[in-house]
Amino acid sequence: MASRPPRILITGGGGQIGIELARRLDESSVWALGRSALDVTSGAAMDRALDEIQPDVVIHAAAMTNPEACERDRGAAQRVNVVGAWNVARAVARAGAAMVHLSTSYVFAGDKLGPYREYDEPGPINAYGVSKLGGERAARQALDRLYVVRSSWVYSRWNRGFVARLLELTDAASDVRYVGDQVANPTFAGDLAAAILRLIDTQAYGVHHLVNEGATSWYGWATAVLRAAGREDVPLEEISAEEYPREARVPANSELANEMARAVGITLRPWHDALDEFVRQWVADRG
Ligand SMILES: NC(=O)c1ccc[n+]([C@@H]2O[C@H](COP(=O)([O-])OP(=O)(O)OC[C@H]3O[C@@H](n4cnc5c(N)ncnc54)[C@H](OP(=O)(O)O)[C@@H]3O)[C@@H](O)[C@H]2O)c1
Repeated sequence: MASRPPRILITGGGGQIGIELARRLDESSVWALGRSALDVTSGAAMDRALDEIQPDVVIHAAAMTNPEACERDRGAAQRVNVVGAWNVARAVARAGAAMVHLSTSYVFAGDKLGPYREYDEPGPINAYGVSKLGGERAARQALDRLYVVRSSWVYSRWNRGFVARLLELTDAASDVRYVGDQVANPTFAGDLAAAILRLIDTQAYGVHHLVNEGATSWYGWATAVLRAAGREDVPLEEISAEEYPREARVPANSELANEMARAVGITLRPWHDALDEFVRQWVADRG
């Protein structure tokens, strides 16, 4: 007898990763709920949603994701990213399901030479990273059947993020200075979503890094976006992190290696291949 596809509930269903996940699933087996339908800061709402939907897997993609906003309101970051994750994990444990908890390369301090592996010691340097690490730990306390998936510098067509803003630049754009001494792995949300869906078939619970292969700086990423779009006419200036102070400190190195995922047969393509295809599609769609 053919087994039925798993029933999947996605929190943060209106976010870019939530949207890319839902697009890859049959609508009869996915419930992608945005904040107004399911606020993860309410434990009672989580329990009700799980009682109603009875999912096999909950992919927890809801979070306060803006590092500056987390810096300004650490209390809110803790409520959403730590208590929210714990609410989800506790409801999932009660329902006997499994959970994917989305996390970030910003749980690391950024002072390592070379890519961070799943078993490297975290040491966040900003409020967002502190709250995301707290979320990982809170979820782990409540649940064994847990995948923690860390990713970095995720882009998609669903928000005005780094790539979209660059592609909308005009020749007259004034501020095209990008930091050259902070690196991570630019990761296409579609590739990340596909890898997460493969991961939940493995039952290889634990921490997984899932990023497009290879790393670059903000400046390297911006250069690649404009080159792929045929916009080498836009002048870019490389600056140092010191010349671009931010409210939230950014780790100098948040490159991840997908060591555990690779061990269970899950690989992602190089970041520039994913980016080239994304930009080609973007340009084609806008005619
Ligand atoms: N983007 C990246 O570069 C990146 C990198 C590594 C890891 N991640 C992680 O991946 C996950 C998804 O990120 P994303 O890029 O898809 O972010 P996103 O586009 O900002 O989506 C996050 C979603 O969470 C929702 N949300 C916020 N507070 C909520 C609450 N209390 N209850 C329910 N929903 C709430 C937001 O809704 P509103 O729009 O209404 O606020 C938003 O739709 C997050 O855990 C993030 O930390 C992201």
